Amino acid sequence: MKITVLTQFPEIFAPVMGSSILGRASDAGLIDVRAVNIRDYSADRHRKTDDTPFGGGAGMVMTPQPAFDALRSLGAEGKRVLYMSPRGRMLDYSLAEELAAEEEFFILCGHYEGVDQRIIDAWNMEEVSIGDYVLTGGELAAMVLVDCVSRLIPGVLGSPESLSEESIYSGLLEYPQYTKPRNYEGLEVPEVLTNGNHKLIHLWQLRESLILTKKRRPDMFAEYVRTHNNLTKDEKKVLDDVLSLED
Ligand code: ADE
Repeated sequence: MKITVLTQFPEIFAPVMGSSILGRASDAGLIDVRAVNIRDYSADRHRKTDDTPFGGGAGMVMTPQPAFDALRSLGAEGKRVLYMSPRGRMLDYSLAEELAAEEEFFILCGHYEGVDQRIIDAWNMEEVSIGDYVLTGGELAAMVLVDCVSRLIPGVLGSPESLSEESIYSGLLEYPQYTKPRNYEGLEVPEVLTNGNHKLIHLWQLRESLILTKKRRPDMFAEYVRTHNNLTKDEKKVLDDVLSLED
């Protein structure tokens, strides 16, 4: 998968894209993330990429020329181009899955007061938000998106089970995890996790996920109940039990 990010601050991306799981995925050729400096496409002799807004107001707005030229010369015509913005569609699992199925897409990062609307309109950009808060620029948002899309690409996470396991629990908050030692200063790991009965372990984890989701994210819980019609008899029993619990 090739992702090209247009930004005024390409240097921000290198440490994130070069470390840990994303670094390994790049080395293995599973993802190819390029951060391109939009200033390199400015026709202005000072490499300017923004100007004051028509209509007045504070801040600067990205001018059309560097963005148009960059997108044209990088071959973005006919490809998905995202624009990171708090006005956009909220990034969630379904958008991440959609993007993970693409071979290539582009991301534009804005700064200050944003970008000239003609850039968004002419390139048919999809605005994407990572949450109801305002960042100083789109770069951190773009990295969040790249990270969560990348981990859905086959091979990026170590074991395929990491993802398939997740799909049973998809739409639920994660159950609590424990590691060694079994007893730390008198604090015990739940007995069921230590006896090696995988079926019981799965049902315990499912129950914990369901309880947590029902309590913290009733919206997600309701959606899970509505859509997960493929549970086994035992899983269904766990769900019915959680449904009957008092809040
Ligand atoms: N740029 C500034 N704030 C943002 C947000 N919340 N999501 C995506 N891009 C942004």
